Amino acid sequence: MCGIVGAVAQRDVAEILVEGLRRLEYRGYDSAGVAVVDGESNLTRVRRLGKVQELADAVNSQDVLGGTGIAHTRWATHGEPSEANAHPHMSGDIAVVHNGIIENHEELRATLQARGYVFTSQTDTEVIAHLVEWELRTSESLVEALQKTAKQLEGAYGTVAVDRKDPSRIVVARSGSPIVIGFGVGENFLASDQLALLSVTRRFMYLEEGDVAEITRRDVTVFDATGERIEREIVESNAEHDAGDKGKYRHFMQKEIFEQPTALINTMEGRISETAVITNAIGVKAEEILRKVEHVQIIACGTSYNSGMAARYWFESLAGVSCDVEIASEFRYRDFVVRPNSLLVTLSQSGETADTLAALRLAKEKGYMSAMTICNVAGSSLVRESDFAFMTRAGTEIGVASTKAFTTQLAAMLMMVTSIGRLQGRINDEKEAEIVKALHELPAHIEQALTLDKEIEALAPDFADKHHTLFLGRGEFYPIAMEASLKLKEISYIHAEAYAAGELKHGPLALIDADMPVVVVAPSNDLLEKLKSNVEEVRARGGLLYVFADQDAGFEADEGMKIITMPHISEITAPIYYTVPMQLLSYHVALIKGTDVDQPRNLAKAVTVE
Ligand code: M6R
Repeated sequence: MCGIVGAVAQRDVAEILVEGLRRLEYRGYDSAGVAVVDGESNLTRVRRLGKVQELADAVNSQDVLGGTGIAHTRWATHGEPSEANAHPHMSGDIAVVHNGIIENHEELRATLQARGYVFTSQTDTEVIAHLVEWELRTSESLVEALQKTAKQLEGAYGTVAVDRKDPSRIVVARSGSPIVIGFGVGENFLASDQLALLSVTRRFMYLEEGDVAEITRRDVTVFDATGERIEREIVESNAEHDAGDKGKYRHFMQKEIFEQPTALINTMEGRISETAVITNAIGVKAEEILRKVEHVQIIACGTSYNSGMAARYWFESLAGVSCDVEIASEFRYRDFVVRPNSLLVTLSQSGETADTLAALRLAKEKGYMSAMTICNVAGSSLVRESDFAFMTRAGTEIGVASTKAFTTQLAAMLMMVTSIGRLQGRINDEKEAEIVKALHELPAHIEQALTLDKEIEALAPDFADKHHTLFLGRGEFYPIAMEASLKLKEISYIHAEAYAAGELKHGPLALIDADMPVVVVAPSNDLLEKLKSNVEEVRARGGLLYVFADQDAGFEADEGMKIITMPHISEITAPIYYTVPMQLLSYHVALIKGTDVDQPRNLAKAVTVE
């Protein structure tokens, strides 16, 4: 969480830094700040509580001149959101920004206070500024001071420092939080996400764990964790430059919901022929691994966890391979048994989720056959540290509420399941052709689901004045209900829960009354009759029902039950399809509630802290 941008250029960089922060605002948005140094060592620091726009207004209203600068948008971990706690933090001539958590900050703070340093914030970051200042007194360079500092820090962080007295360089250290360096012509940049720099460069270098780098206008020098000078690869990015624009949409979330047909087409392109999944397109090592996998262990958080939960049904029913799905923050702290020929699969939009990454690192030591990631961000930590990666091609997702990342993860897993099933002889040509046909048809079906937008908008007022909502589903539609409830609570702040509909009578039925809408995901499948009985249980107790039902499901609207008719589609891809109206419902409820849809309170897009 938190966004970092830095620049060393001949031109004034304040505008570039603030624009970079705007593009990173999804990572944290409770305060923002910038420190810029000019060629005569004048340092201007501006910090503001609130959104990046507050900072932009402040920067525009004064002269913030200079070609070297660092900037930060914050998601508070230590200390409330306030101007005093906003980065950059200073110690003498040193200014520092930081992303992540310094776990031993209390101990370091005590040591630094004993040396006479006075703290002006409640943040863990301020210890870095004082440590760099202290170490610089006995170092030959700023980069050496940062190397010495990094050795004393425990935790996960990306941190950048600038020395007012030497504006020709900035230095950066990476340990657990991503840092990318952007190469310009006669100017260089850095950021916590390449998205921040796409307006100034396309050439990027990702720092590795433990790297410390020095960046000047002409050179970038990288040292690895042992202090050795090292070359890191420079890659050309083809990410869309306009990803940070909302276009004709009111919110990024809305844009991203409507981008799903394209995101799915891109994710499937080159990976399915007319009738088959092209296993090699999943990854170079995929065929060898998928042929012998006997168990799949999925690890993820949040929305990605929900997609794993939905895909579990496919792994077991279509490919005949057992599958467990676990929340990364739980998995990483328990003793687990690795079954023979188990494949570890991490799911993540960002590829930087701290718990998922930690779980991957732990699992790699425990004897999994291979570690695969299904991820949306090329070059992210999960992609680099996994044995192989199957990229979703959803495009940049900016809304904190994940939408197109979820549906593309599901499409990716369905392709993977199909490959496993075929390679292991459990899916024949005919079945494979049926699945692939459903995948080919999916984008058009999602377009169709999007046309329900107005109808769903009309339902939203029924939810916006309520405090609770219950989502019900059965089978693979239970995780779809889970995802629907996560979306609603996340952006509308309405408490929502998902239940496997068969579980109702084991407790939640007691909650049913006219004040709690009950949303039912009701495709036409083998469980439909069972689901109908569950719906009756709610109806008999005066519950208000909103049933998203297949056109042939046979539900009839009445006073306590509204039906949203969904055109019939293949049972196989229906979980992906039924996700879309749920996303639209949350979106419209949030609009009525007037919440900050793209940047809901207390959340951030990439959860890079534990
Ligand atoms: O980037 P990841 O997919 O690893 O992120 C995991 C969760 O933090 C994320 O899905 C979160 O739950 C979303 N905000 C939900 O919309």
